[in-house]
Amino acid sequence: MKVGVLASGRGSNFQSMVDHVSLDVLRDIELEVLISNKRNAPALAIARKNDIEALYIPYVRKRGLPKEESRLLHDQRIIDALQKRGVELVVLAGYMRLLSPQFIDTYPNRIMNIHPSLLPKHPGLHVHQQVIDAGDDVSGCTVHFVNKEVDAGPIILQTKVSVRKDDTEESLAARVLVFEHRTFPKAIQIFADKRLRVVEKVVFIDYSGGWGESWDQRQGVYLRHQEKSWAKVGKPLVEVLRVD
Ligand code: GRF
Repeated sequence: MKVGVLASGRGSNFQSMVDHVSLDVLRDIELEVLISNKRNAPALAIARKNDIEALYIPYVRKRGLPKEESRLLHDQRIIDALQKRGVELVVLAGYMRLLSPQFIDTYPNRIMNIHPSLLPKHPGLHVHQQVIDAGDDVSGCTVHFVNKEVDAGPIILQTKVSVRKDDTEESLAARVLVFEHRTFPKAIQIFADKRLRVVEKVVFIDYSGGWGESWDQRQGVYLRHQEKSWAKVGKPLVEVLRVD
């Protein structure tokens, strides 16, 4: 199945998808193209390094044109690029622009996003600070389909992460990110394996035949790889994940 990824920044979720593919955890998935609206997005560099096509498609506010029409022109260029490459699933991995209704209608229940909270709690921006200010003791991440309401589409998967009393925005973000990198690829594989069905706004996942167990077993390879990558950036994963 051909996947197109849209990203505006760092691209760590995209990197985790690349790793899942190269470790043969994500199967029958081709990361066909990475599209960014930011020229210097590190996500573009990750794509190039891994021989994945990297496209920079800037948003340009056309003089005298209403904002929505400029948005549509930008989205249309992206849709054209995705369609030309036969993309079946669009993945938003830190894509910082809202999609036009026309984009969403082109890919109904075929655009996934990851949000770093347990939706419907804390949609929008500055999520981790919202969680801390609310005094929540549990947070996490949500993979959902994108519909026309912001951060409110059908929920596919959620992973819970505990909040520590001394958490800062940064420490909570780092801990949640570890689980984002594990959860997003799983949702993509569920979709590619045609294991999900959306009825109204509810996602039903078919885990029969030991799907979940065999995924967990396969993803073990990635977990060990993830452990090493955090060590490389100087932070042992045990420290990031420590719960008092
Ligand atoms: C992630 O925290 C994701 O949940 C949010 O944007 C961030 C993107 O990070 N939507 P990265 O670019 O994947 O590193």
